[in-house]
Amino acid sequence: MTKEPKRYLVTSALPYANGPLHIGHIGGAYLNADIYVRYLRSKGKDVVFICGSDEHGAAITLRAKKEGKSPREIVDYYHSLMHKAFVDLGISFDEYHRTSSDEHRVMSQDIFLELEKKGQFEVETSQQYYDEEAHQFLADRYIIGTCPKCANDKAYGDQCEKCGSSLSPLELIDPRSTLSGSKPILKETSHWFLPMAHHESWIREYIKDGQLDGHVHHDSKEWKAHVVGQCMSWIDGGLQSRAMTRDLDWGVPVPLPGAEGKVLYVWLDAPIGYITNTKVWAEKNGKNWEDYWKSDDTRLIHFIGKDNIVFHCIIFPIILKAHGQFILPHNVPANEFMNLEGDKISTSRNWAVWLHEYLQEFEGRQDEMRYVLCSIMPEQKDSEFTWSDFKDRINNELADIVGNFANRVFVLMHKFYNGVLPAITGEATEAERQASAEARRAYHAVGEKIEHYRFREALAEAMNIARAGNKLLTETEPWKLIKTDPDAAARILHSCANLVADTAFCLQPFLPFTAEKIRAALHLTWPAWDELEKQALLQTGHTIGQLPILFTKITDEEVALQVKKLEDAKLLAASQNKAAIKDPIDFETFQKMDIRLVKILEAEAVPKTKKLLKLKVDTGVDQRTVVSGIAEHYTPEDVIGKTVLFLANLAPRDIKGIKSEGMILMAENAVQGLSLVSAVKPMDAGDGVK
Ligand code: 2FM
Ligand code: ZN
Repeated sequence: MTKEPKRYLVTSALPYANGPLHIGHIGGAYLNADIYVRYLRSKGKDVVFICGSDEHGAAITLRAKKEGKSPREIVDYYHSLMHKAFVDLGISFDEYHRTSSDEHRVMSQDIFLELEKKGQFEVETSQQYYDEEAHQFLADRYIIGTCPKCANDKAYGDQCEKCGSSLSPLELIDPRSTLSGSKPILKETSHWFLPMAHHESWIREYIKDGQLDGHVHHDSKEWKAHVVGQCMSWIDGGLQSRAMTRDLDWGVPVPLPGAEGKVLYVWLDAPIGYITNTKVWAEKNGKNWEDYWKSDDTRLIHFIGKDNIVFHCIIFPIILKAHGQFILPHNVPANEFMNLEGDKISTSRNWAVWLHEYLQEFEGRQDEMRYVLCSIMPEQKDSEFTWSDFKDRINNELADIVGNFANRVFVLMHKFYNGVLPAITGEATEAERQASAEARRAYHAVGEKIEHYRFREALAEAMNIARAGNKLLTETEPWKLIKTDPDAAARILHSCANLVADTAFCLQPFLPFTAEKIRAALHLTWPAWDELEKQALLQTGHTIGQLPILFTKITDEEVALQVKKLEDAKLLAASQNKAAIKDPIDFETFQKMDIRLVKILEAEAVPKTKKLLKLKVDTGVDQRTVVSGIAEHYTPEDVIGKTVLFLANLAPRDIKGIKSEGMILMAENAVQGLSLVSAVKPMDAGDGVK
């Protein structure tokens, strides 16, 4: 075991300020961190919880370009949107600052200069793609071309999203600039590289064995297997030097003479954001930020999603150690991904549940989402959110177990004891003893699981307290006992009222809004986490108040509405993602095509096919047969008599044994599917199109 730290520094990945937050983000790196931090605070630990917006890099400039705005406008907008959504969901950051701030520029430049002074960089000159029309070097994401591995013609300069290969821009076949569409040229430029291979031996020991400078730094078994696995395969693959600067006009300027027009690489400046934001917080709160970043007795924990693992476990630690004064992360409990209704969450395809929309549409129901996201958190493997599961978990677990138990106890307490906790008389029965033993066990398990980043199990344990309470009530029926054995009824309700309090107490880190409602209704103040073992929360004679409704059930209509909203949004996104313009052809090639209007005379389905209609068309000079794949969009009756666009000189093809001469031309998008195309003015069969 590593020694107890004096203080905790907990961070959540700084989200890019280029789009709203969705539930996958929350279940990945924010809710878990918030639960952890709320628990540590309740334990009375010295803990600071740091986050902020990641406002630099191509993610931002690309979004700005797409929306026709400046990067500043984009980050201002999304920074506020995200910050508000976090606050509304109860994610309790101590500081949420921004990487486009002055404080951050100063901090990043200081760290860069210190690394430079220590000789940690190697300046290398290389050839990079440059767009002569846009007059700028092209960031990897600004170059698309054909993937050398799978021939996808829309691969990016850093990655092919079709086959998942990571690429370098020079590997792309037929590269094009996304800024101007032109073919970029290669031009010489210099950059500051971090020679990561120099750090290989210690980083390997640090990750694999938890050793640092010959000392135990952390218990390596505490790291998640998939995190260690990803790091080791990276290290085993050989650590390449990585450029820490970029030619770009948005970012932290490189603070060196001769580096005009260059900025720090976003993955250098973003994690430094954790340091900046700690300093900003410390200055507001009369603390010394260096205690948190430069003292061995601080425990640093980064909560992130799995796509950020190598940056937090390898690159940033190398930067911190190369600098010389900083501590390294004690753990990086990265989560895997959360899918949505059977598909990957995707911002560009609009397949997401957006947090700010949820908070608006389900006002006051933050804990419902917190509960579900924690229950399905992708801790060890990818998981899946569906709206019907959301409904089931809220109705059958939150409402039926916690809501119902608390409500029953409050009602009985007021009915029989005017809300005053009755004294305990007589000997507890086995059922009563079992319920308290279970509550005690579960309370310890909650803490133990949280400390090991097992948030799903921790939440299930907190729920077990309410389960034990429900069981006790149902088995003993104190509302009947009150007549036959009033002592037993009083003992049971005394105990159940405490079980309600224990449930709420243990749910605090997970469901802070609900815990607060119950606490206030119980007229309690929460003691520190460990106090719960010492004495019961409610003592004889304590008066409780009225419990508000904790949860309302989710209806089938609400589920259907949300699913429809998702489907609609996806269709809309698909309809907006228009195909790129194809490669140019010359006029002669175009002229070779005989495009004309034809009138559809007859139509019938092609037997044993779903998509095909057999049509007879009048071309103005002849009548011929053509097979068209429109049967899922049009019935024969729909099309007969229509005058539509046609390619007449397409070489005849045999389709399902039918000779098809020509092709009906169709417009297509994701919302409408296929549409026949006709002339705007009334025109005739045989009229040419040019
Ligand atoms: O993947 C992302 O969303 C990054 N913006 C995370 C950055 S984490 C840290 F380094 F700031
Ligand atoms: Zn590919």
